[in-house]
Amino acid sequence: MTTRVEIINDFLAINVKPGATIQDVVEASGSALPFGCRDGQCGTCVVEIVQGMEFLSPKNEKEFKVLKEVCAGTCSENSRLACQMKIDKPNGVVRIKY
Ligand code: FES
Repeated sequence: MTTRVEIINDFLAINVKPGATIQDVVEASGSALPFGCRDGQCGTCVVEIVQGMEFLSPKNEKEFKVLKEVCAGTCSENSRLACQMKIDKPNGVVRIKY
């Protein structure tokens, strides 16, 4: 019961169980997706969810605040902070672009 996470830029895919953080996935996969604070404050880890938002944890308050500040109108509804997301449901595909 896993969900497949694909990091498009790096041509990487990894199957993970619900509860795993995207930060864990990125670090385990060898992706070059950059992180800064790892605490939802700096905005370094902004990504776009190309597919599979419904398999991720909902945006939290830190994400709403930082995305509003960092993106200055350039973020979309599909923008997320990689350090704040978890896989929420099994049997899906999440495609991430950074
Ligand atoms: S690493 Fe700073 S907001 Fe995600």
